[in-house]
Amino acid sequence: MSYAEIYESWKKDPEAFWMDAAKAIDWVRPPSKALNSDNAPIYSWYDDGLVNTCHNAVDRHVEAGRGAQTAIIYDSPITQTKHKISYAELRKRVATLAGALRAKGVEKGDRVIIYMPMVPEALEAMLACTRLGAVHSVVFGGFAANELAVRIDDCKPKAIIAASCGLEPGRVVHYKPLLDGALDLAEHQPDFCVIFQREQEVARLEDGRDFDWHGFQYGVEPAECVPVEGNHPAYILYTSGTTGAPKGVIRATGGHLVALNWTMKNIYNVEPGDVFWAASDVGWVVGHSYICYGPLIHGNTTIVFEGKPVGTPDPGTFWRVISEHGVKSFFTAPTAIRAVKREDPNGAFTKPYDLSCLNTLYLAGERADPDTIHWAQKILDLPVIDHWWQTETGYAIAANPLGIEHLPVKIGSPSVAMPGYDVQILDEAGHPMKPGELGAIAIKLPLPPGTLPNLWNAEERFRKSYLTTFPGYYETGDAGMIDEDGYLYIMARTDDVINVAGHRLSTGAMEEVLAEHPDVAECAVIGVTDQLKGQMPVGFLCLTKGVNRPEAEITTECVKLVREKIGPVAAFKLAVVVDRLPKTRSGKILRATMVKIADSEDFKMPATIDDPAILDEIKAALQTIGYAR
Ligand code: COA
Ligand code: AMP
Repeated sequence: MSYAEIYESWKKDPEAFWMDAAKAIDWVRPPSKALNSDNAPIYSWYDDGLVNTCHNAVDRHVEAGRGAQTAIIYDSPITQTKHKISYAELRKRVATLAGALRAKGVEKGDRVIIYMPMVPEALEAMLACTRLGAVHSVVFGGFAANELAVRIDDCKPKAIIAASCGLEPGRVVHYKPLLDGALDLAEHQPDFCVIFQREQEVARLEDGRDFDWHGFQYGVEPAECVPVEGNHPAYILYTSGTTGAPKGVIRATGGHLVALNWTMKNIYNVEPGDVFWAASDVGWVVGHSYICYGPLIHGNTTIVFEGKPVGTPDPGTFWRVISEHGVKSFFTAPTAIRAVKREDPNGAFTKPYDLSCLNTLYLAGERADPDTIHWAQKILDLPVIDHWWQTETGYAIAANPLGIEHLPVKIGSPSVAMPGYDVQILDEAGHPMKPGELGAIAIKLPLPPGTLPNLWNAEERFRKSYLTTFPGYYETGDAGMIDEDGYLYIMARTDDVINVAGHRLSTGAMEEVLAEHPDVAECAVIGVTDQLKGQMPVGFLCLTKGVNRPEAEITTECVKLVREKIGPVAAFKLAVVVDRLPKTRSGKILRATMVKIADSEDFKMPATIDDPAILDEIKAALQTIGYAR
């Protein structure tokens, strides 16, 4: 069937479509229906099914006779380590870890925070939780102790599983001291912590609270897979919103299994047994869906890569990993390709490697600029597929579904809506717009299985953030258009979220931190265009009256403060002092105009601006840090 036929078949009968897709999953009790709309506009899927994620991602492949197949390849150019874990070994390791967690009281529904770098043990910890029906929440290693504490207080974990350290090029990330710092800040305390000691830095364990990863598993009874309801949360993943408080996106078990499994063949065009690689981090949604769950549920081999696109040791690392492990589909962020291109513009580092195993490069996480796509196509001589999605959806909203049909590529567009998604462009009043017209991108409810059913402990915020602006629709927070052929174009965010190196960050959260500095009376953070990272945050600080310390001292302190409070991942390095911020007469800061000035783009003077002269001051301040040229 063609893409158009499959999309139409979904549209005609979504219930039949998703019940059919559910057949590819092993259920303890198959669901009698797919969608539950009793609480619309809050929906759930496969409610009366009973199922286990870990069984579908691990055990069932062993039972089907594929135990000897490699499940996980660990490749760490940072530690010069490589090893493989078969499905049979993975089952043993995960069942034992789950048994140890259970022996300490972790049960179905309990939350477990996982704070680990890119090591296979991170995936094992995730799978051990889902084996028990415990709800994991993975926290990215680039966040500071304060961010970890916020997540601890929100999801109230019974246990925390962490590594002693992570390894960034030239720097050890002290996970355990960060965890200790977070526990000092947090009100909620877990019953216990499990620490995976790495040889690069062995952490001090606190008697009675912290247990060694290996020691605590000794002699325990392995745990079986615990069946859970289809709508039972598999995990919570926090993501940036408009304010400093992150949103806890819930992923429900049944829909997650069905949808991810569907995408592996239909979008990524891999068969069970093929090697699939997503070069991201387990702390992000890409890592959840396509380093851990998607490939394993579908019976693929996945790669846990502890390295960077460049500098570990050179811009040929990606190509080395692909050829050495026989990767068929490769997924990364455009930033990573831009980093490689910058260091190896002619693709010389591809030459030593046989890349004939590779069929396709997939890009997502931020806008894929045409230059990057053209360059990758040229040096790889392969299709480069942009696709668009969000933490909230967990998998692609729009893509070019290569496993169904290779649609014509339109550079600059992530192609077309996937089955399950009725994507529409709306004007401010919520009316559908014509092809080619720019508006807010919204998705007609219900969202398909696998997307967020709610926010953790925050239903009101869920409704307000996503369901209120356009009744009957999910508001994506992105703006864009759809052309005559149904191709989507993602142009900008409609909120204060920015995208730095494929990482989603909240300028509002950075403003909250800057406002804590005693010398800062008022501030604004915007995302300016950056050649490598897509966007970079820039802070504007208005100082408290009477402060006459050197400005450089204050901006340095502010940069340090954001790193301490949010973490290095915020990449907040640029701040300038200004007398005033440009505002509308009603007091709204004109951030979009400031971005245009920074990017040296033409802009229309906002009709509601209070004092246009301030824009010249903003321009002058930006010029001192190399922008607004
Ligand atoms: N743990 C701790 N710190 C981390 C981290 C982690 N897992 N990941 C990144 N950081 C730190 C970096 O070391 C850096 O710190 P620094 O300010 O001391 O240099 C900071 O966070 C900013 O990181 P990043 O913006 O990623 O920049 P970078 O200079 O480390 O690397 C790229 C630049 C382009 C090579 C890199 O961003 C990259 O590969 N990005 C891929 C994008 C990606 O995977 N996105 C996920 C969604 S698909
Ligand atoms: P995250 O939740 O971190 O995955 O970030 C999701 C946001 O990243 C989206 O809402 C978009 O703003 C942006 N994004 C992701 N993929 C794309 C893409 N292919 N093109 C343009 N923007 C993208």
